[in-house]
Amino acid sequence: MSAEVSLFPVSAVDEGERPVLVLDLGGQYAQLIARRVRECRVYSELVRHDVSADEIRRRNPVALILSGGPASVYAEHAPRVDPGLFALGVPTLGICYGAQLMAQELGGAVERTGASEFGKTALHVDGGALFAGLPEEQTCWMSHRDTVTAPPEGARITASSRSTPVAAFEAADRGLYGVQFHPEVVHTPHGQEVLKNFLYEVAAAPPTWTAAAVIEDQIARIRAQVGSDRLLCGLSGGVDSAVAALLVHKAVGEQLTCVFVDHGLLRKDEAAQVVATFGNHFHVPLVHVDAAARFLERLDGVSDPEEKRRRIGEAFIRVFEEEARRLGRVPFLVQGTLYSDVIESGGEAGVAARIKSHHNVGGLPEDMEMELVEPLRQLFKDEVRRVGEELGLPEAMVWRHPFPGPGLAVRIIGEVTRERLETLRGADAILLEEIRRAGLYRELWQCFCVLPAIRSVGVQGDERTYGYPIVIRAVTSEDAMTADWARLPYELLETISGRIINETPAVNRVVLDITSKPPSTIEWE
Ligand code: XMP
Repeated sequence: MSAEVSLFPVSAVDEGERPVLVLDLGGQYAQLIARRVRECRVYSELVRHDVSADEIRRRNPVALILSGGPASVYAEHAPRVDPGLFALGVPTLGICYGAQLMAQELGGAVERTGASEFGKTALHVDGGALFAGLPEEQTCWMSHRDTVTAPPEGARITASSRSTPVAAFEAADRGLYGVQFHPEVVHTPHGQEVLKNFLYEVAAAPPTWTAAAVIEDQIARIRAQVGSDRLLCGLSGGVDSAVAALLVHKAVGEQLTCVFVDHGLLRKDEAAQVVATFGNHFHVPLVHVDAAARFLERLDGVSDPEEKRRRIGEAFIRVFEEEARRLGRVPFLVQGTLYSDVIESGGEAGVAARIKSHHNVGGLPEDMEMELVEPLRQLFKDEVRRVGEELGLPEAMVWRHPFPGPGLAVRIIGEVTRERLETLRGADAILLEEIRRAGLYRELWQCFCVLPAIRSVGVQGDERTYGYPIVIRAVTSEDAMTADWARLPYELLETISGRIINETPAVNRVVLDITSKPPSTIEWE
């Protein structure tokens, strides 16, 4: 059972819940496709495009989706799929490049006709299972240079646009479907319905992937993994570790002890909130370790961002291990790792380059002595929140913005000192208070202050000052993979700036970060 658990962490073969496998052909929307499928309440997973037909058969998927991709099917190193998968009898949907691959492999044709389409495009629909119940004339989002000029052998053309005669095709008898446009992006207004038609009608995939089902499934898996052994869970104050802890507590009750390592790098008042929620409200056995001095000492003189992360990650685990020893034999460590962390660290799906060593994935010391339990490893953030709500976590915690494990240390550029922490914490509390007062908290993905390692000249009360600037970083995002800077109202910014200057003595300038991700990251380090 345990080998199965790590391969199929959620609702997999043995439970009867079959996944939709999204083959990642390198397109920017591959992950989005997996999320959209899950929004239809069908479990989906991103897998490498070169997965073999045998492996696919073993996974017993309810459907396959081939994602888009940046290459031309004629390019030398263009990603391919195992052609054997088209003969598996599994309903398969190709999107953009995926549809072109299907045409090329299955007796159709793909050409560079010179008529590229980018952006909103009018689509004329001519029947077909994907478009059942949808208008004949609709808008879709296109992004392609090559064009399918002949559908796979025996397939019927079900939609066209002005310059793309084969904008969609189907070979219903073989369960093969292709669309040149992107149903997964919001600019295709009927896109989600196209996906639903594919999932519900074509693949007969039941919409059973709900928060309640995830909880039930995870409880069974956690019990199977840990038996009667004890677990430690590090609470960070964020929604991920909170939901992970509650899931485990629900599964195995008092076998779980939560350890809240207060590394002294949290936002104002957050430590007290964690203790109140878990200790007093949920009655989860909770050890509160005040390790602020120890972390500060480890950070003494360190300015390099990755070195900060490494030291914090390592100190974290060491503290857990010390607590574990105090508690006797505790072989398991619970972590709130998410699917996006896994993907961003080039993990299971193996599709994205490693960008940062997020301490809860890549930065674990190699000699760590505990086995990981990661009940959220297959979930996107919005799914974690739904699970949290279902478990009864208070709204304020369910909707808390993501917060990096290394905390304020990666929002202080350069050296982390007690004084600089106090400065940042004070300014940050003002920012959050004003954002909440303006009713904007839930609209933002994250919003925080950064303290750079520079000083500038100012004048206050007839006196020259030489103080620190505070940077306001507020972003909107769906999954932190990309983000846009939030257009906060000028009046609000004025209030925030005024209060930060007046209430934070070391600060004499407030600036706004107006960069999206990419090219920036959300955090400054
Ligand atoms: P970036 O800055 O890479 O951040 O755009 C993406 C998301 O990840 C969070 N983040 C971290 N979380 N440990 C964490 O647990 C880290 O070291 C870390 N660095 C960034 C960040 O807050 C954002 O939500």
